[in-house]
Amino acid sequence: MPSLKGCYNIGDLRRRAKARLPAPMFHYIDGGSDDEWTLRRNTNAFDDCELMPNYLRDISQVKLGKTVMGRELALPFFLSPTGMSRLFHHEKELGACRAADKFGTLYSLSTLSTTSLEDVAAATAGPKMFQIYILKDRLLTREFVQRCKSSGYHALCLTVDTMVAGNRERDLVNGMTMPPRITSISNFFSYARSVHWWLNMLRDPDFRLANVAHRVDALGGGAMGLIDYVNSQFDRSVTWDDVAWLVEQWDGPFLIKGLQSAQDARRAMDVGATGVMISNHGGRQLDSTPAPFDCVEDMRNAVGDGLELIVDGGIRRGTHIIKALCRGADACSVGRAYLYGLAAGGQAGVERALELLRSELERGLALLGVADVSELGPGHLRELCSGDFKAGNQAPDQGARG
Ligand code: LAC
Repeated sequence: MPSLKGCYNIGDLRRRAKARLPAPMFHYIDGGSDDEWTLRRNTNAFDDCELMPNYLRDISQVKLGKTVMGRELALPFFLSPTGMSRLFHHEKELGACRAADKFGTLYSLSTLSTTSLEDVAAATAGPKMFQIYILKDRLLTREFVQRCKSSGYHALCLTVDTMVAGNRERDLVNGMTMPPRITSISNFFSYARSVHWWLNMLRDPDFRLANVAHRVDALGGGAMGLIDYVNSQFDRSVTWDDVAWLVEQWDGPFLIKGLQSAQDARRAMDVGATGVMISNHGGRQLDSTPAPFDCVEDMRNAVGDGLELIVDGGIRRGTHIIKALCRGADACSVGRAYLYGLAAGGQAGVERALELLRSELERGLALLGVADVSELGPGHLRELCSGDFKAGNQAPDQGARG
C-alpha cells in the first residue's frame, strides 16, 4: 500500500492516484468530454469571487453539520455517485462508504457500481442514497426501487444527463474498457508499470457491474466498452412524465441529478422531487455547459426553499464548499476529490480526502468569522472587482506545487 504521506490537499491525492493507476483508469476518473472546457470551468468558477471575512467573532466552536435530506450530516458535503470503483482500488465502494460513515456523511451508490446495493447497505448504517437511471428496461428500474426500499436506502437520485454518452476522448486514447484489457502496446506498458494495481487485481479480479449483472448481459460476452454499454441501456425517450412516474414509486427524499437551469428546477419541484443535484456530470457529458456554482443563484431564486440544492462539480477545496453555500446551496457533493483518494490508498485514501476537506472547511469558516456553516450567505461573497484578476480557465488541481 503506497503511503499517503505528503498528501496535503486533493491535488496531492490526484498526483498519487496518477502515479499508482494504469493510464486508462486514471484518465477515466480525471477526464471530461470534448475539449474539457466544462471540466476546467467547474473548478475555476470558484475563483471568480472572493470571501469577505469579519473578525473578532467568537469562533471557539465551529459547527459544520447540516440537515440534508432530512438527515443530520456531520458535514455540509457528501460523496457523489461514481461508477465502477473497483477499477481504482480493490476496496472499491465498500472503502468509500465506510469512510463516509466514519465522517458522518452520506454515501451515494451508483447504479454502475462494482458492489451490489445490498452489500453496501450491509456494510454501514450511515445514510445512503442510490443513484438510479430510467433505463430502457423499466422493469430493472422498478426492481432497483424495490431493492433500495428493502435494503434501507434513505434517498434516491435520478441522473438525467446521460441520454447518450459524452465524448470522452481520453478514454479512446488510453483504451479504457470495463473490465480492463490490453488494447495496445502503450496501454500494455501503462498496465505493466502499475504494480500495486496489478496486485490488487489478483487479490480481487471481480469487475462485474454488481447491480445489473443478473439482468443485463453487459460483460458476459467478454470485454465490452463502457460506451457500448451506456449506449445500449440509456433511453433517449425519457421525459418529465417518466420522472413523475418514478417519484411515485419512491417515498422519501428524491433528487434529480444533472439539472442546471432555473426552468428545470421549477419542473423538478412540480413533479415532486425534493432536491436537485446541480451538476454537469463532472464535465463528462455536454461540454460548454456552465459550472454548477454559477447556476445556484438562479435556481435558488426560482425555487425558494422548495427544493434542496446540491452543488456537484469541481470541488477541490474547503473554500469551494464555503462559496457554494454562500451562493445558496444547501450542501455540496464531491466525486473526483474522493476517487483520487480511493485510487491513492483505498478507504484510508478516501478518509484522507474527507479529512482534508473537513479541516479546510473548518479553518476557512473560523478565518471567515463564521461559527456555524448554516450562517453562510451572500454577504460573505464578493465578485472580483477587477477583470485583471479574473481567473483564466487553467487546468485544475495544479496547486502551489505543480
Ligand atoms: C460516468 C458514468 C458512469 O460518468 O456516470 O462515467
